[in-house]
Amino acid sequence: MAQKLAVVFGGSGFIGRYVVRHLAAAGWRVRIAVRDTQQAQFLKPAGDLGQVSFVPASVTNAQSVAAALEGADAVVNLVGILLELGRRTFKSIHVDAAANVAAACARAGVKTLVHMSALGADEASNSSYSRSKAQGEVAVRQAFPKAAIMRPSVVFGTEDGFFNLFGLMAQVFPVIPYFTSTNPQSPEGGGASFQPVYVGDVAQAFVQAITDEAHAGTTFELGGPRVYSMRDIVQMVNQATMRHRKIIGMPYVFAIPLNVLGACARWALHAVLKISFVAPLLPTFDQIKLLKAGNVLSGKMPGLAAFGIEPTAPDSVVPTYLKRFRPVQQNKKIRTPARNRS
Ligand SMILES: NC(=O)c1ccc[n+]([C@@H]2O[C@H](COP(=O)([O-])OP(=O)(O)OC[C@H]3O[C@@H](n4cnc5c(N)ncnc54)[C@H](OP(=O)(O)O)[C@@H]3O)[C@@H](O)[C@H]2O)c1
Repeated sequence: MAQKLAVVFGGSGFIGRYVVRHLAAAGWRVRIAVRDTQQAQFLKPAGDLGQVSFVPASVTNAQSVAAALEGADAVVNLVGILLELGRRTFKSIHVDAAANVAAACARAGVKTLVHMSALGADEASNSSYSRSKAQGEVAVRQAFPKAAIMRPSVVFGTEDGFFNLFGLMAQVFPVIPYFTSTNPQSPEGGGASFQPVYVGDVAQAFVQAITDEAHAGTTFELGGPRVYSMRDIVQMVNQATMRHRKIIGMPYVFAIPLNVLGACARWALHAVLKISFVAPLLPTFDQIKLLKAGNVLSGKMPGLAAFGIEPTAPDSVVPTYLKRFRPVQQNKKIRTPARNRS
């Protein structure tokens, strides 16, 4: 019997590459739909000869989406942004483009659609990111009622943008700051709470949702086994990078100059120099709102357990990839005794 075909929009991104590898391992033919197919070629060895293919498509372009869906049995839409830049707004990507993909799936007779949202998606949120994710969910369900929707907490893994950002800060700065609304010396002063979820667990959930139609029409919240405060996270990074930096809890008001600096840097790079580079150490107002809100499962929706997945703890994975931010001398200290033993 011919293998079924899954089309993955955003298949070359951080989470996408794991979804693609897990789908291929589960026997799916995978077509990766992204704007830059050259950048996605590293995923060719994820499957057998011809099992993984590539198609240039933009979720904002209905024609290219329809062409990408030809012959598809199932679709995953992972495309999302954390930062608005030019015409790439939260509305255009998370709402209009998500609706575009869902409507095209319905027209093409696709059996299953798994749509990526985010934990905290809420039409009443003060963050535009979270509001647009919630509006996107509504738009997807209108066009494709049987879509499964995934809302992960912050996702960790080798290529993540969260732990790696703190790892970089630990490498570059003598102190690592975090934001808190209460006295940082108090037990409650650890800042907002997060429930980081492992990218491999998220990918496995996507594969099961795409394969088993029993999950159709359900919204899942995906989180890890433990809730961490911002201070716990920074401490984990400090240990994993062996930098032993001073950790400082700062009131949110200190975020304002960082926001302004970031906005100026991004404007100058984008509007003046025409470079769409993102200054990652300088958060936007909306990112600070997300940080302040935290990201913990509500417990009202099914999660990884519905797929029989035991969540992986960050402590067991994060140190394996934050090693790269350790001081060279520390790595030497570890390697030298190991060499002398042999
Ligand atoms: N990372 C997290 O912690 C986290 C947590 C919760 C939810 N999420 C959600 O998970 C999704 C994936 O996140 P990620 O961190 O994997 O993102 P990512 O690394 O930035 O990957 C984005 C992917 O989307 C593709 N893409 C961007 N614009 C596109 C367009 N117009 N048409 C087609 N493809 C496009 C990119 O490839 P090209 O540039 O070549 O097109 C890339 O493959 C997002 O929706 C995000 O909101 C992420």
